[in-house]
Amino acid sequence: MTRVALRPAINQAVETLRSAGVHSPQADAEHLAAHLLGVDRTRLVLTPLVAPELLEDYRALVDRRAQRIPLQHLTGTAAIGEIELAVGPGVFVPRPETELLFAWALAQLETLPHDHTPVVVDLCTGSGALALAIAQARPDADVHAIEIDPAALQWARRNADLRIAEGDTPITLYADDVTDPNLLTEFNGEVDLVVANPPYIPEGAELDPEVADHDPHLALFGGPDGLDVIRRMTPTITRLLRPGGSCAIEHDDTNGSDLAALLAEHGDFTDIVEHPDLAGKPRFVAATRA
Ligand SMILES: C[S@@+](CC[C@H](N)C(=O)[O-])C[C@H]1O[C@@H](n2cnc3c(N)ncnc32)[C@H](O)[C@@H]1O
Repeated sequence: MTRVALRPAINQAVETLRSAGVHSPQADAEHLAAHLLGVDRTRLVLTPLVAPELLEDYRALVDRRAQRIPLQHLTGTAAIGEIELAVGPGVFVPRPETELLFAWALAQLETLPHDHTPVVVDLCTGSGALALAIAQARPDADVHAIEIDPAALQWARRNADLRIAEGDTPITLYADDVTDPNLLTEFNGEVDLVVANPPYIPEGAELDPEVADHDPHLALFGGPDGLDVIRRMTPTITRLLRPGGSCAIEHDDTNGSDLAALLAEHGDFTDIVEHPDLAGKPRFVAATRA
C-alpha cells in the first residue's frame, strides 16, 4: 500500500493551529500526530511515512483542536508526576504548574520518619491528580481525596481504578465539600500533609476558550477575589493538620501575598512561604501548622 509523508501534514497543522490562536501550535500538532500513531512525541521522526487514512484522521483531529477543544480532551489523557490520568468533559485538566506543588509535597513527605505512615489529604481533587500522583510516588502513604462535583468524582474514580490496576496503593475518595466543618473529623489533628489546588480564578477574569468553554466552572472560579473557597477551607486545613504538619495551596498569580496574609491572620500557621512558578509568578503558598 502507498504510504505518504507525515511531516508536511504536521507543518500544515502547525499553521492551522497558529491561525486559530492556539498557544503552542508546534507542540500540539506533534502531540496529536503522536497520539494517533500511539508513539511518544519524541519518536515521531521514526515514522516519516504513514497510511493515507491516518492523515485523514489527523486532519480531522487538528480541525477539532483549531476549534479550541483542549488538547487533553482530544488525546484523553493528562500527565502529573509519573502517571497519566484519563480526562475529558466534566473534569478540570491538570496543569503543568501543579507539578511544582506536587514536587514540594514529595519533598515534605521525605522529611518524615521512615517508619511512619504519612497521612495525606488532597482537597478539591478533580481528576484525582495530586492524590494519585502522591500515592504512586509514595506507596506507603494513606491518601484521602475530596471532590464536590459528581462528574469530576466519576473521573477520579475511574483514574483511581486505573492506578490500582497498575499496582498502586488505593486512595480513599469522598464526595464532599472541603468547607464542611464535619469533613473527615476522624482525622482531626492527625494529618501530616494537606495539598489543595482549589478553584481560584477571580470572577470576570479573561480566559482562553479551552478553559472558559471546557473546564467546569465549579473548578475555576473562586469568587470576586479568587479566594472564596480557600478562605472557607482554611479552617478545615487547620483542623485536620497535626502540629508540625504542613499544607500547600495553589492560587491565582494575583493573590500570592493575600493568601499568605490570610494564613498569617488565621494565627495557627508558621513558616508561611510563597512559591513562584517557572515563569516567576506566585503560584502556591506552603505553611506549617503551629
Ligand atoms: C482547579 S480544580 C483542581 C483539580 C485537581 N486538584 C488538579 O490539580 O487537577 C478544583 C476542583 O475543586 C472542586 N471543588 C470546587 N469547590 C469544591 C468544594 N467546596 N469542595 C470540594 N471540591 C470542590 C472542583 O469541582 C474541581 O474539581
